[in-house]
Amino acid sequence: MQKLKVTGGARLVGEVRASGAKNAALPILAASLLTADDLILDNVPLLSDIRTMGSLLQGLGMRVERDGETMVLNAKSLLTTEAPYDLVKTMRASIVTLGPMLARFGEARVSLPGGCAIGARPVDQHIKGLQAMGAEITIEHGYVVAKAKRLKGARVVTDMVTVTGTENLLMAATLAEGTTILENAAREPEVVDLANCLNAMGAKIRGAGTPVIEIEGVDALHGARHHVLPDRIETGSFLVAALMTQGDVTVTNADPGSQDIVLDKLREAGGKIEVGEDWIRASIDHRPKAVSVRTVPHPGFPTDMQAQFMAMDCIAEGTARITETIFENRFMHVPELQRLGADIAIDGHTAVVTGVKELSGATVMATDLRASASLVMAALVANGESIVDRIYHLDRGYDHMEKKLAALGAQIERIS
Ligand code: UD1
Repeated sequence: MQKLKVTGGARLVGEVRASGAKNAALPILAASLLTADDLILDNVPLLSDIRTMGSLLQGLGMRVERDGETMVLNAKSLLTTEAPYDLVKTMRASIVTLGPMLARFGEARVSLPGGCAIGARPVDQHIKGLQAMGAEITIEHGYVVAKAKRLKGARVVTDMVTVTGTENLLMAATLAEGTTILENAAREPEVVDLANCLNAMGAKIRGAGTPVIEIEGVDALHGARHHVLPDRIETGSFLVAALMTQGDVTVTNADPGSQDIVLDKLREAGGKIEVGEDWIRASIDHRPKAVSVRTVPHPGFPTDMQAQFMAMDCIAEGTARITETIFENRFMHVPELQRLGADIAIDGHTAVVTGVKELSGATVMATDLRASASLVMAALVANGESIVDRIYHLDRGYDHMEKKLAALGAQIERIS
């Protein structure tokens, strides 16, 4: 199993390029199921989750080609409409193939993703929405089995804001008969990017980025070329790492407009934040100040940045309260950060973090994607050597993080 060896203490300085957004690329890859033509995607990040989605689509019988950050996808015909358990279990986002497959081919069998380390994460809202659009859905042997001659436009109000739920229903509605209104829709920039891609394919979507999305169904979608938006979570992670190491980092190929709240919080920590059209620079010449955050759906503070801010608070001046409201079990990084010497007390859904002057290197275990990033970042400022184990979690969502950090001056290497 691969690990990262990190020797703490280096200041991060320089420029780093953000990759395309994983959470935009995954549903957009699934959107290729909606047309018989080629969908060409640029700025697709090199991640294991993207490879998993590619394998899943190939397994369905699609043509999937990749040349660096460009992918060409074609779903002229499928061999099967079944997304099998062994792939879905490794990546919950596989569920986004359900809506497009059902809409275009009239049937889909997608394994239920099951729970994951950060919580139960059911897909009941995806199912409820598709049922409202006329799909017949049963759960058989752990699979969601969906059928519909042609989906019908409907008004769907989800019980909570769900990102992949919104994306699944959005994709399904593009080929439905009539108009669909999605209320309580997720407003994440990745939903907007998906809608932009679908509109380029001939869909008629209005209101993406607001809580009400209106989709006028069309008979067919056509091919398109789309540039995936930059990853705001990867971008934010590098900016936090810059402040933690009292460094000076510019992230290029970034989308500053998608992360107002994160930039505000970095300023609150005492960071100097400068923003250009497609770059963000974060610098600081003193120990960051503790910042409290509460995770909520976009445009609030993202749950996917919670662990990284906690890592910063571990070495900040003062005490911070970090409250997680999206997932019920997203504090698994806490015992690992404690192994590095952090002072954290958990009180229900809130972690109270009191900054210490110095962390001390240790062996820690990555438990989920963003938790892994927080451990790497904490290791960057810990005294001596740390080993971060089980970094396959990190590779799911960060494009060669250790290489990008090393180029900024970090002492970090991948070992087997
Ligand atoms: C997406 C992101 C993930 C991010 C999360 C929250 C992708 C591929 N993943 O995950 O990185 O952490 O948004 O911003 O984009 N829920 C239900 N029933 C449903 C759907 C969701 O109860 O049918 C609950 C979930 O358990 C969770 C909350 O709603 O508590 C939000 O989940 P959701 O927004 O759906 O997360 P994902 O789309 O899985």
